[in-house]
Amino acid sequence: MDLEGDAEGALRCPPPSRSERSSESFRGMSVKRTLFTVGPVEVRKEVLESMTRPMITHRSKEYEQLQEGIVEKLHKTLDTDMHILISPSSASGLLEACVRNGVNQKMLGLSNGSFGDRWQEIGSLNGKEVVKANSAWGKAIRPSELHACLDDSIEAITLVANESSTGVLNPVKEIVKAARDEHDPLVFVDGVTAVYGTDLRIKDLDLDALVFGTQKALALPPGLAIMCISDRLLDKAKTVSNRGYYFDFLKMMEKAEKYYSLTTPPVSLLYALDFQLDRILKEGVQARYQRHKDMGDLVRDWAREHLGLYAEPGYFSDTITVINRNGMDFSKLNKSLKEKGYEISNGYGSIKETTFRIGHMGDLTVDDIKGLLKAMDEVMEAM
Ligand SMILES: Cc1ncc(COP(=O)(O)O)c(C=O)c1O
Repeated sequence: MDLEGDAEGALRCPPPSRSERSSESFRGMSVKRTLFTVGPVEVRKEVLESMTRPMITHRSKEYEQLQEGIVEKLHKTLDTDMHILISPSSASGLLEACVRNGVNQKMLGLSNGSFGDRWQEIGSLNGKEVVKANSAWGKAIRPSELHACLDDSIEAITLVANESSTGVLNPVKEIVKAARDEHDPLVFVDGVTAVYGTDLRIKDLDLDALVFGTQKALALPPGLAIMCISDRLLDKAKTVSNRGYYFDFLKMMEKAEKYYSLTTPPVSLLYALDFQLDRILKEGVQARYQRHKDMGDLVRDWAREHLGLYAEPGYFSDTITVINRNGMDFSKLNKSLKEKGYEISNGYGSIKETTFRIGHMGDLTVDDIKGLLKAMDEVMEAM
C-alpha cells in the first residue's frame, strides 16, 4: 500500500482499494482455516511465533551457532551423517542445482507423475541430454524398468520419492539398489513430500542427493530448501563447468562447513526450523512417521468408502492421498469445507480435473483428520 502525505506533510494510509479489501477478508478467513493441503501446509502458532526473535546478521557468531545447532538436529532426526546444504530458495532451486552440479552431458529422469516430468524438464532446460523413463501415472516405478535405460553413459538418475501429483510412494530403496548394481550413476532423490513424513532410511540408501523443503512435512512456512549431499557428488561437481554462483555446491559447501550461508539466508525461517526440529525430537521421529501412517490410513479408508483411490495399492503415500472425483463437484466441496474452517487441495497436472488431494502431513494430528473427514461427510451428504 502506498503512503500518501497529507496537507501537514504527515504520512497517512489511503483507504484500502477494492482488491486490498478483499485480500484482507481472505486473510481473515485463512487465519481460521486449517490446511489439509499439499504444501504449504498447516503451521502451528508457536512455530510461527518462533520466527519473531530479534534479527541477527548472517556473518555473526550467533548465526554460526544457530546453523550448527540446526545441522546437528537434522543429522539426528534424519539419522544420517551426509553433508547438509541449506539453501535460501524453494526445493526446485536445489533440484535444478543437482543437475547443474552433477551432470556434464547425460542423465536419466525417472518419472511417474508431474514432479518426475518436471525434473526431466529441468535437465533439458539446463542443456543436458535427458533419457526419459516414464511409468504410468498412479503406478509405482519398478526397479526392473531401469535395466533398459541405464548404461555407463548415464551420469546421474533423478527420482521423486513421493510423487505429489499421484500420491504414489516409489520403492526408493529397491530403485537405488537396481541403479547401483548395474552401472553406479549418481542418484538424486526428490524427497520434497517424503522427508519427515516417511521413514526413507537414508542411512541404508547410499544416495548422492536428497532434497526437500520447509513447507511440507516439516510444517514450516515456505522459503528454505535443504539437501543431504554425498562426497561423490561434491567430487563430481569439480568436473562440471557452468555451475553458476548461487547454487554452486562447492561454494555452498565451503561456507556450510563453517556453518555459514553463501548468500543471505531467511534468518527468521531458520529460527523456526531450529524450533521445529526440537519439537520433532520431543515427539520422536518414529512416532512422527507412525502418526503420518495413521492419518494416511484414515484418509484412505474414507476415500475407499466414498470415491476411490488414484494410486495403486501397496505404494500409498503417507503424506498425500489422491482421490478420484468420480463426477463429484470438487469446487463446491472445497468451498463448503472452507466455510467450515478446512481446506484441501485440487488435483495436479494432467489429472487436475479428475482427482483431488488431501495433505496429511506435518503437525496435523489424527484428531484433526477425523474432524476434516466428518466435515467432508456432512458436506457430501448436503451436496
Ligand atoms: C514432489 C515435489 N517435488 C518438487 C516440488 C517443488 O517444490 P518447491 O515448490 O518447494 O520448489 C514439489 C512441490 O509441491 C513437490 O511436491
